[in-house]
Amino acid sequence: MSARIIDGKSFAATLRDRVGTEVSRLKDSYGVTPGLAVVLVGEDPASQVYVRNKGKQTLEAGMHSVEHRLAAETTEADLLDLIDSLNADPAIHGILVQLPLPGHLNSDLVINAIDPAKDVDGFHISNVGLLGTGQKAMVPCTPLGCILMLRDLHGDLSGMEAVVVGRSNIVGKPMANLLLGESCTVTIAHSRTRDLAETCRRADILVAAVGRPEMIPGDWVKPGATVIDVGINRIAAPEKGQNDDGSAKTRLVGDVDFASASAVAGAITPVPGGVGPMTIACLLANTVTAACRIHGLPEPEGLAI
Ligand code: GUN
Repeated sequence: MSARIIDGKSFAATLRDRVGTEVSRLKDSYGVTPGLAVVLVGEDPASQVYVRNKGKQTLEAGMHSVEHRLAAETTEADLLDLIDSLNADPAIHGILVQLPLPGHLNSDLVINAIDPAKDVDGFHISNVGLLGTGQKAMVPCTPLGCILMLRDLHGDLSGMEAVVVGRSNIVGKPMANLLLGESCTVTIAHSRTRDLAETCRRADILVAAVGRPEMIPGDWVKPGATVIDVGINRIAAPEKGQNDDGSAKTRLVGDVDFASASAVAGAITPVPGGVGPMTIACLLANTVTAACRIHGLPEPEGLAI
């Protein structure tokens, strides 16, 4: 058996089109242009790439986009002042502070300074609490993308056995809460789980979000299960040869061993091209949702949960 490949790239393109349509509707019907501000502190190369892509896609969707690139030595007081001014800016409906922050900055303090209504990452403690109690919240982008794909694939998820491997605040915990909201039976597994292989084999829906390259082999996957691989890991690929400077070429892999898992699963997200593209598309969707809620306008179907 060979699994159906879940095409996150095409799913994300469809979602971005929907966002673009809703942005036009908000502009034409209500004179509201959704605006997203992204704040990057320091020069982490991976973060710079993410921030550039976020800004580009925000503009492509017809939204207002602002980028604040701050020096790595920026003080907490200066960063909090910037967040205050973005909270007060009526042209801004979404604020994203790119993580990780440099070590001298307290991420919790900074994230919790964002107006929860503009917290398009869903990381503010108020949104975490709302999601955890089954209330309307801003939902973290990666888990939101996973749920939208799972709903599209299965329709009703009620009663399914879901196992989330990984307990991060960004993916594992919100993912588990969302699956619970879909009436799945949910297990959160992690590095201390006693029999991880056996736990994974129970899953109708297996979500891998641990950040360890190819750690879940095919024989941990129940035949026919849906596998959602959130991992994006860069590993050496000597088979691709060397770069000009003599270093090994690299390739991206997930947390799941795709070759063996795709022979067993019913459906699986590839890496790259699975969950990854959905994250920024969901950030755009969250910005539209935030703009609608802030202005008391009807929310479009299918962009939020
Ligand atoms: N760094 C890696 N992923 C994310 C994300 O989803 N949001 C923010 N703010 N920073 C990140």
